Amino acid sequence: MTKKMNRREVLATAATVAAASTVATKAFGQAPAVMSGHRQLVVGAHNGNRLKNENGETGVEIAFRMMSEGADVLDATIACNNLPENSIEDSSVGYGGLPDANGDVTLDACCMHGPLKRAGGVAFIQGVRAPSHVAKDVMMKTNHHLLAGQGATDFARANGHKIEGDLNSERSFKRYLEWKERVEREGDNRTFAELDLDFIEKKGFEVAYQMAKEGRIDIEHIHGTINTNAMNIKGDICGNTTTSGRSFKVPGRVGDSPILGAGLYLDNDVGAAGSTGLGEMNLYHLCSYLIVEKMRDGMHPKDAGMYALNRVKDMALPNPGYRNEKGEIAFNLQFYILNKQGQYAGVAMRGGEGRFYSVCTDNGAEHVLMDAIYTDS
Ligand code: GLY
Repeated sequence: MTKKMNRREVLATAATVAAASTVATKAFGQAPAVMSGHRQLVVGAHNGNRLKNENGETGVEIAFRMMSEGADVLDATIACNNLPENSIEDSSVGYGGLPDANGDVTLDACCMHGPLKRAGGVAFIQGVRAPSHVAKDVMMKTNHHLLAGQGATDFARANGHKIEGDLNSERSFKRYLEWKERVEREGDNRTFAELDLDFIEKKGFEVAYQMAKEGRIDIEHIHGTINTNAMNIKGDICGNTTTSGRSFKVPGRVGDSPILGAGLYLDNDVGAAGSTGLGEMNLYHLCSYLIVEKMRDGMHPKDAGMYALNRVKDMALPNPGYRNEKGEIAFNLQFYILNKQGQYAGVAMRGGEGRFYSVCTDNGAEHVLMDAIYTDS
């Protein structure tokens, strides 16, 4: 039963809202985003609060401002993710994303719209810098959830998206050639064509990690992805996930990002969750779906996220290399989570110093340290 507030409680609540209004006005110079009962917020991966547009706004700031101006929440999350998608500075998504083992950039994306109860995705699409927009078109213009490969590219072309021959940047292709040469060296100087795919997959992964250790590629871009989720003051919840997938992957490989329930899941009555990291290990438990269902049962976003990570941690792993010499999980998997009450969390298998997620509220944009299973990485 709803408890009626006494006069003192009414005044205290009014003071809280007024204080929040002041902060909001200071941070964004416009109407506060807490007046209609829901707390406006954006929660997502670290790279949503890194690059800036020509007005000095990061992705999560753009999304927050757009929602304050009345934009659709999905459009706001897509605008956030478009910054890294269109930039060569971020080698984990879109244009300049690290390519597959053949040197081709292939992209996956997915979006979900809480109020419309619709979703769309593309997998293994080539030639489109910002596959998030194509995912939205799949959602709005077809009865399907997922279009893949050449069909996805043809659909994008037919719907007015610019198709380019090659999405490598000079830098991403240079890194690819370096990776290829190092894998060939590890394979007793057999040419790449002479190496079997299993060797390329296993050695390629080790070489990519070694390159990350040497600072040649960003460690977060090995499985680099961006997920952004948001809620507006009406309580409308939407999300978007986009990726170039695992760096130097076996051609044809698709991970968790475009898969509903894995790379992203949300329910407008409950909340949203999305992922970055080793997609294969997320897919075993459809963790984004699991997290939203745990929140439906009343769990706080942090507890729901840790529950999902523990399910992954405790499973029989398909690859011995997924544990380190201490028996700990060696790979990373992260979830970005918000609920209808305006609570949020970012959780990681391997956290620690420098492992952040992005949040934008009335207080502005910030990097927040991830809660993690292992905190020493
Ligand atoms: N999480 C991105 C991928 O594994 O493809």
